[in-house]
Amino acid sequence: MSHTAVEYSGPERVFSGVQPSGDLHLGNYLGALKNWVELQDAHDCVYCIVDLHAVTVWQDPKKLADQTRNIAAAFLASGVDPAKSIIYPQSRVKAHTELAWYFNCVARVGWLNRMTQFKDKAGKNSEKMSVGLYDYPVLQAADILAFKGTHVPVGEDQKQHLELSRDIAAKFNNDFDVPAFFPLPEPLIQGPGARIMSLRDGSNKMSKSDPSDNSRINLTDSADVIAKKIRKAKSDAGVIPESIEEMDGRPEVANLVGIYAALSGQSQQDVLSEYVGQGFGVFKPALADLTVAKMGPITELMKRYLAAPDEIDRILAAGADAADQIATPIVDDVRDIMGFWKV
Ligand code: TYM
Repeated sequence: MSHTAVEYSGPERVFSGVQPSGDLHLGNYLGALKNWVELQDAHDCVYCIVDLHAVTVWQDPKKLADQTRNIAAAFLASGVDPAKSIIYPQSRVKAHTELAWYFNCVARVGWLNRMTQFKDKAGKNSEKMSVGLYDYPVLQAADILAFKGTHVPVGEDQKQHLELSRDIAAKFNNDFDVPAFFPLPEPLIQGPGARIMSLRDGSNKMSKSDPSDNSRINLTDSADVIAKKIRKAKSDAGVIPESIEEMDGRPEVANLVGIYAALSGQSQQDVLSEYVGQGFGVFKPALADLTVAKMGPITELMKRYLAAPDEIDRILAAGADAADQIATPIVDDVRDIMGFWKV
């Protein structure tokens, strides 16, 4: 990994998070989790279940803790190893909310007004949304910077939030004349998995909130369901083209080829060369087989972890303690820098 900001010379640390607001899907796996696993061997990694972000829209209190365990099971089943990476629920580490408040006083209203994800989620109802949903990207900046995170592996949809995190870090360093205090976190947005689209509409991203379950492959789907969803996925009457440029204007085709490439670890061009001239009657079954082969073991492992919730709770509690030990001293330094009273 390249070095981050010119000024910051602290250690590199990877930070990322997922909301416990529903089942994870193939987009979350290929855009984030798969890369997390690859990073943990050579880097110091902190992976957070961002329940404080989830409650920016209504979450049933009877379900929230189980949703959190469910995401933890998905992390573990995907290969995130608690012996190498810290895994914990955000709400258990108070540094997030404290730093978010300080950052609320650094970030500008104009910056938040430009966030497209709020506009997409709120639609015409922005006046009725929670203040938390509007402020969400500031909390995200606090998540990363409470750990002085230098690298953030995410899908393409998080790019603008990461730019805001950099702006907040830079303004804090500048306003308080501490140029080397916060790193400017770098997004790691990699490969064909960074932007997985809906199986029903290649111009919308695959999303937990899409009302059609056929639009996504959930990490909990059985082999039969995965195969059926891929069979039904939107494609066209054409064949697999020779080059990436020839997929222009064929978003569904580009998406299916991208999923194949991300799952198999090949480039999109390699996939095209292998299937050039074939129709979807051939390509879809091959993609279904590949998806089942890669995701099936994860689904099975997830079930095993979920059958042992005490083990999950133990991992999360230990992770929260370890996270606290890193973040609390950093936020204490912020308090000193800002000049709050202390004895
Ligand atoms: P969330 O929970 O929506 O998504 C989790 C991760 O999955 C990625 N992702 C996708 N990647 C490719 N194709 C898709 N269709 C797709 N859909 C989702 C997301 O980019 C993300 O990496 N705001 C974040 C959570 C967050 C966070 C953070 C991330 C809170 N604090 C600090 C990094 C650092 C979110 O809502 O992710």
